[in-house]
Amino acid sequence: MLDYTNSDLRLTANQSLSGKTQWISPSNLALIKYWGKYGRQLPRNPSISFTLDTAATTTTLSYRTKETPGDTIKLDFKFDGQPNEAFRAKLVKFLTSIVDIFPFLTQLAFSVESSNSFPHSAGIASSASSMSALALCLCTVEKEIFGTLNDKTEFYKKASYVARLGSGSACRSVYDTMAVWGETPEVVGSSDLYAVPFREQLHEIYHDFHDDILIVSKGEKSVSSSAGHGLMEGNIFADNRYAQANTRFAELQVALKNGDLEAFGQITENEALTLHALMMTSEPSYILMRPNTLAQIELLREFRNDTKLPVYFSLDAGPNLHLLYPDNIAAPVQDFIEATLLPLCEKGEIIKDRAGKGPQEV
Ligand code: PMV
Repeated sequence: MLDYTNSDLRLTANQSLSGKTQWISPSNLALIKYWGKYGRQLPRNPSISFTLDTAATTTTLSYRTKETPGDTIKLDFKFDGQPNEAFRAKLVKFLTSIVDIFPFLTQLAFSVESSNSFPHSAGIASSASSMSALALCLCTVEKEIFGTLNDKTEFYKKASYVARLGSGSACRSVYDTMAVWGETPEVVGSSDLYAVPFREQLHEIYHDFHDDILIVSKGEKSVSSSAGHGLMEGNIFADNRYAQANTRFAELQVALKNGDLEAFGQITENEALTLHALMMTSEPSYILMRPNTLAQIELLREFRNDTKLPVYFSLDAGPNLHLLYPDNIAAPVQDFIEATLLPLCEKGEIIKDRAGKGPQEV
């Protein structure tokens, strides 16, 4: 089994250095959802997602040798230019948990500055973009100091592995367009430990697929994703769910390869509703959809029935509807969104996103 524990990644005594790295990394939207985990962030079922473009985190990481050596993490953290103690504490906890992978973490003093391209309180999960950006920065630091990870494939594999430890879904954000996480016989080389790219296998209709995020509510989620994963352990549907995710994965990957949009849409919508059904059947139960989420779903299905256009929805762990459609029907779909769905969004807000080019080093 792959093991990145590496005691060689330590600075030698009196080695004094400093440096800076910056990555922009996107969020992603799962089509087959990861919901339920065990062990050290291992998924209960395989998942597959579009890597987005507009919704991204920019992270700048500066480092220098610590003045006084010690065993703890030294970190300054700013979000949107402001110190943020809650985020800082979360990051220190994460960095402490990966000292076995990057022993140099306790030898350097770090300063991290992060900002999101999307409004902070837009109700958009930022852990995938922020944790993938941080993991990419850490791999760059390793590369700069130790001259390792020069092979691109190795670099992204390790970045994905480290991102997974920060937030499971983040491991898929290191690859452009589409990525798979979780071992499945359907994808050669797939693993529970890191994501693998899926662009090569993908029908070209999906290469520039739209994902418009309708902001139904900007409110903070009542139940976090990690609490949600935890509740799956007691969910009486859990075993059937994991079996279902595997079956749907097998079906969806066929539709992704042959461009069958109808099959794509049916599986994708069922996955979104299943995710929320699992929340509603957890103990205690909870509901993250809002009345306007359901209203938009009904209006979308009516529109699709009337026009026969292949536009479908998905949902993340929140109330905001993702509209998925190919570029060749963008004009009529955007007219429909503007006239019919936007009035049901909080302050008429929308993030027009699409399958994207993946993380960029700045
Ligand atoms: O990565 P986490 O632990 O925040 O979990 C994310 C889970 C979903 O976004 C709901 C689904 C997924 O596969 O991204």
